Amino acid sequence: MTNNVQKIGVIGAGTMGTCITADLLFHDVPCVLVDISEHALVKAKAEIEKVLRFAVTINKDLPKVNAADAMKKVLFTTDIREVADCSYIIENVPENWEYKESVYKQLDDICGEEVCYAANTSCLSITKLGAATKKQEQVIGVHFMNPSYLKNTVEVIKGYHTSDACVAETVNVLKLMNKEAIIVNDYPGFVSNRISHLFMNEAAFVVQDGVADAAQVDAIFKKCYGHKMGPLETADLIGLDTVVHSLDVLYQSYQDSKFRCCPLLRKMVDANLLGRKTGRGFYKYG
Ligand SMILES: NC(=O)c1ccc[n+]([C@@H]2O[C@H](COP(=O)([O-])OP(=O)(O)OC[C@H]3O[C@@H](n4cnc5c(N)ncnc54)[C@H](O)[C@@H]3O)[C@@H](O)[C@H]2O)c1
Repeated sequence: MTNNVQKIGVIGAGTMGTCITADLLFHDVPCVLVDISEHALVKAKAEIEKVLRFAVTINKDLPKVNAADAMKKVLFTTDIREVADCSYIIENVPENWEYKESVYKQLDDICGEEVCYAANTSCLSITKLGAATKKQEQVIGVHFMNPSYLKNTVEVIKGYHTSDACVAETVNVLKLMNKEAIIVNDYPGFVSNRISHLFMNEAAFVVQDGVADAAQVDAIFKKCYGHKMGPLETADLIGLDTVVHSLDVLYQSYQDSKFRCCPLLRKMVDANLLGRKTGRGFYKYG
């Protein structure tokens, strides 16, 4: 295991891969951003350029960078083999077992023996992801918050076989990004999503049942509880498709009806009302 991170491979250029790549560039870490979709890469490039210019106005802790110079440190590609010389991988493909499993199988054939795989998953078992690879000691959960460049803390999840060296390497990578790690053990949903998805799901049931509209639900959380965001604004930010995938994983994992997905959430996903990423969810954007 190296303590000397040279280049990081980021797999998946959606909501999370995009903000994590911007975050790495803020901290002068060279990276390769891979997606199967050219369209996703074009969108990610435009978003990263925008974030590099404007995020410092929201998070004063971010280093000031010259966006054009920073963009020279990232390679955008649809060819996953370009991560062969990366010393650490952050995987951000959709919350779907088949997608993730196929990526880890490819990485096993491409990456060096020593490379750690950081699974950015909302709910999937890190132990199960580890078992899908040839090096389960080197698979760890790194649950970045969205958008990662505005959050200085990350939930890190140790799978059953995750080695101490892999934990140390991960803490080292997060330090480069000026982030603190809270290290927890592995059960689906870990701490954050096991709890927050119950909030978001029940909030959707409240709207579905006509108890209150989305703005009222969120206002109660913000004004009465003092939360920064309400559960439905949070669901829109995450992406309702990702929320539904995560609830399905939690339901299957625990076989507990408390995680059954609200039909309204599923209907909104079928209607492509995914939240911020499609311009409409519980709220309208743009
Ligand atoms: N959205 C959030 O707020 C959030 C927060 C923390 C963690 N997560 C987790 O991060 C992961 C990614 O979530 P997201 O919201 O960024 O998803 P997303 O749907 O916005 O993006 C996923 C990207 O992965 C790409 N992709 C699919 N298969 C691929 C492959 N084989 N190789 C390379 N790229 C591939 C897709 O084209 C897409 O661009 C999920 O596991 C999710 O649960 C999401």
